[in-house]
Amino acid sequence: MSFIVAIDGPAGSGKGTVTEIVSKKLGLVNIGSGAAYRCVALETIKRGIKLGETQKIVDILNEINIEFKIEDGKDVIYLNGENVTNNLRTKEVAKIVSQVSSIKEVRFKLNDIFRKCAYDADVIMEGRDIGTYVFPNANVKIYLDATAEERARRRFIQNQEIGVEMSYEEILENIRIRDKNDMEKEIGALKMAEDAIYVDSSNMTIEEVVKQIVDIINKKK
Ligand code: DC
Repeated sequence: MSFIVAIDGPAGSGKGTVTEIVSKKLGLVNIGSGAAYRCVALETIKRGIKLGETQKIVDILNEINIEFKIEDGKDVIYLNGENVTNNLRTKEVAKIVSQVSSIKEVRFKLNDIFRKCAYDADVIMEGRDIGTYVFPNANVKIYLDATAEERARRRFIQNQEIGVEMSYEEILENIRIRDKNDMEKEIGALKMAEDAIYVDSSNMTIEEVVKQIVDIINKKK
C-alpha cells in the first residue's frame, strides 16, 4: 500500500510551494492536481475551443499526455512533450480553469490519472478535493488556508517572478471569484475533510508551514 498525503485548500494558500518542498524533504512524488486542470485549460485555449463546447474539452483528455517531472531539483510539468510549467499561470488560463475543472467528465478522467500515479508510489498531492474525494483514505489530510488578501499578495509576487502582469486588485478579484466557484462546484467542491488537520498560513512563513506539515506527516509515518 502506498503512503498518501492530501493537501487541500483555496487558491494561493501556499499548497503548491509547500508541497514541492515537503515532497523533496520526504521523498514523496508530487502530483499537482491544479496544474493538471490548468493543462486542460491551456490546451482548450490552444485549440480555440469555447467554454460552452464541453464535449470538445472532454475529448482533449483522450489526446493529451501530462507528465510530472523533476528537473534541476524543481518540479516541472510537460504537456504533450512540452515544458509548460511557466505557461500555466497566465491570465487566460486563470480565467477559465475553474469552469474547465467543473466539467464532470474532466474530473473523472483526471482523477483516474491521479489514482494511477499513486498506485505504486508514495505521493503528496495538492488540490481541492484530494482528501474528500480523490483519496478519502489518505494517510494524512491537511487543509491549508489563508485570508483572501494574503493569498492575493502572494500570487502577485509569484506572478511578478514569472513575468505575468496582473494588478493586486485584479488578482484579489480573481481569487474571490475562484473561491466562490471552487466552493460551490457541484462535484469536487473545495471543502475541508472531516478528518483533515486545519493549518492557517496567513501569518506563517513558508519554512514554518513546511515544518508543521513535515511534523504532522512524520507522526503518521
Ligand atoms: O491550485 P490551482 O490554483 O492551480 O488550481 C487551478 C484550478 O483547478 C482551480 O480553479 C481549482 C481547480 N482544481 C480543482 O477543481 N480540483 C483540484 N483537485 C485542484 C484544482
